[in-house]
Amino acid sequence: MHNVLILGLAALAAAAPAKRQVPHYPPTSLSNGFFLVANVTDPSLDLSPSINGWVFQTAHTGPPTNAAVLQAPGSSVPGRVFYENGTAEQVHYGQSTVITDGATPPTPFGIFIQSPTEFDITYPTEHDLFVNAGPGTPSRITDFPNPYPILQNNQGVGTFVACNNTVPYYGYKFITINYAYATFEGPDGGYEYHANIPEGCAPINLVPQCTTLNTLPPDAYASHEFAAPVRCYDDVAAIDWTQYGP
Ligand SMILES: *[C@@H]1O[C@H](CO)[C@@H](O)[C@H](O)[C@H]1NC(C)=O
Ligand SMILES: *[C@@H]1O[C@H](CO)[C@@H](O)[C@H](O)[C@H]1NC(C)=O
Ligand SMILES: *[C@@H]1O[C@H](CO)[C@@H](O)[C@H](O)[C@H]1NC(C)=O
Repeated sequence: MHNVLILGLAALAAAAPAKRQVPHYPPTSLSNGFFLVANVTDPSLDLSPSINGWVFQTAHTGPPTNAAVLQAPGSSVPGRVFYENGTAEQVHYGQSTVITDGATPPTPFGIFIQSPTEFDITYPTEHDLFVNAGPGTPSRITDFPNPYPILQNNQGVGTFVACNNTVPYYGYKFITINYAYATFEGPDGGYEYHANIPEGCAPINLVPQCTTLNTLPPDAYASHEFAAPVRCYDDVAAIDWTQYGP
């Protein structure tokens, strides 16, 4: 799989106009278990302190529900381990979902991303992410020809964002993970790109970092039979992105 990928990129490079730099990207491995690490894609909008390299964690908000939050590095608790669940066909058609196992016995908790018409109650311009019992909304880790593996929300074009929000269940602030849907309409129906990043939020990619997917006890409700292999990095925070790209 890895070799096929390298060949694919080489073919692309050969087809590119002679003057262009040969594209060159950080090496990836394949794994069916991964952490999701925040990479701030516009450093001018980063929060303070910086949330670059923070890891996807869940904050319990009720028996089957959690808010999606970012946890600072160096915590004694690891981030959530995720897997992309679906047959090869479901992955291909954008019907897979991204799941973490929670509770005892282990139960699948999917990532649920609000649709373009669903909004947070407290922050009415923001779309929330939840990690709740169930399959989750369609999402995947991007594959070739996308040069970088990242979490993709299959419900619409946009970007994940990190916001310093109060979670009502706790009454205090977390760095929550939200989603900003892009819109493409300008005045008079013309084309105009709007990223719609909410005020005070930082645009992030959620980048998979390879880890071992645990084996499940016999009484588990979860199953790893359809955990798809995804491209991931060994250590996202260690990558110097300025050295890469087309
Ligand atoms: C990470 O963010 C930097 C900008 O800070 C950007 O150049 C790079 O392409 C990003 N990589 C991914 C995989 O998001
Ligand atoms: C979030 O907001 C709280 C309270 O307003 C502040 O103390 C904290 O530093 C902020 N964190 C970030 C990462 O912006
Ligand atoms: C995982 O994918 C398989 C194959 O499509 C499906 O049967 C199963 O219900 C999925 N699991 C969850 C929790 O959605």
